[in-house]
Amino acid sequence: MPRLARHLLPDTATIAGDGRLSIGGCDVLDLVEQHGTPAFVYDEAHLRSRCREAVDAWGPGVAYASKAFLCKAMAALAHEEGMSVDVSTGGELHVALAAGVPADRLVLHGNNKSVVELTAAVDAGVGRIVVDSFDEIDRLDALAIAGANPQVLLRVTPGVEAHTHEYVMTGQEDTKFGFSLASGAAQEAVDRLRRLPGVQLVGLHAHIGSQIFLLDSFRKEVEVLARFFNRLGLPELCLGGGLGVAYVEGEQAPTMMEWAATVRESCAAMGVPDDVRLSAEPGRSIVAAAAITVYRVGTVKHLPEIRTYVAVDGGMSDNPRPVLYGSGYEAFLPRSTDADRTLRATIVGKHCESGDVLVRDAWLPGDLEVGDILATPVTGAYGHSMASNYNKVLRPPVLFVRDGLARVVVRRETYDDLLRLDA
Ligand code: LLP
Repeated sequence: MPRLARHLLPDTATIAGDGRLSIGGCDVLDLVEQHGTPAFVYDEAHLRSRCREAVDAWGPGVAYASKAFLCKAMAALAHEEGMSVDVSTGGELHVALAAGVPADRLVLHGNNKSVVELTAAVDAGVGRIVVDSFDEIDRLDALAIAGANPQVLLRVTPGVEAHTHEYVMTGQEDTKFGFSLASGAAQEAVDRLRRLPGVQLVGLHAHIGSQIFLLDSFRKEVEVLARFFNRLGLPELCLGGGLGVAYVEGEQAPTMMEWAATVRESCAAMGVPDDVRLSAEPGRSIVAAAAITVYRVGTVKHLPEIRTYVAVDGGMSDNPRPVLYGSGYEAFLPRSTDADRTLRATIVGKHCESGDVLVRDAWLPGDLEVGDILATPVTGAYGHSMASNYNKVLRPPVLFVRDGLARVVVRRETYDDLLRLDA
């Protein structure tokens, strides 16, 4: 297997003559020395550049989908770089507000927002609420908080199912999200929202899926949405998130600019008026490639004629994606980043189940040994945010590196943290 493809590493990654990896001007092995393993290492310049690219591509309405990776530092960074922030629960709302993101720069999502969540959002003055069900319309009606006049988008299901490499049209949408265009539910919801005092319907929202490589899926989305949208005369249309990223050798994803250009062209072709505010909610494409996860190799087990197991000190608790979705990752040793990878191995974690696999068929340098630091690239999205304490394994810290300095933006958990909630 060839050396690790350079484009899978964060923007500021450099490889020294001896093969050692630096990110943000920080030597990764030095970081490990100081902060231990496992750890998420994010390239701050990379994060900022992706946020700026999103704003350039879409304008200031573009929201960072914080479910991909959220902590105070990340919410603040996205806001500083001009993005709005999409939160999909009261918890995400709480963190974004605690980070100092002004409420009017927040978009609240969720298919089952509670009265408490809606009240918190309206009280805070969130910029947009994306309405997802008739029950939610009832709740907003009942709330009718004095003086508040929240702006809402209606989430609709265009009946376009996006798959990573294809899309299919579904006559009948089968999803828990949004209102069906085909069944007339979307029209009924528009009518109800327009009659509701104290709520301003300003646009439509749709999200067709995640990790999408084919821009045609978005064309199809616009085609279906525009027919309905154009009749309503509303000022905003949000196309959701979903732009894919390359995780492994050989994958290539469209850029943010290509994505936005495709949507703009499709909208123009479908007669969506020029002055409509088009926006999107990228999550993965902002953060995924900005980070690597570093682990320490604890055991190497050669099972003759079967496979080699390389066990690291994390696993499905810091990256459940391989277990959940069969997602693929690359792996490498930051001490010899561009070494040839001749050892075929299965990288596993330390959890008490056989399914705890990080990389099923990894290629690693042949001289790998116990004690080595091993890294997986492109772990910035849906890793930390979906991390757990399974087996009471401590969640790793998050480091932001920039200009030779590392700051701990989320500290490593301690055993005491594990007892914090016990009565
Ligand atoms: N907007 C809405 C309404 C969403 O539901 C999502 C993702 C996004 C935006 C952001 O999508 P992105 O740009 O990140 O594709 N845990 C899965 C991904 C779940 C995505 C859920 N919704 C994974 O690890 O692949």
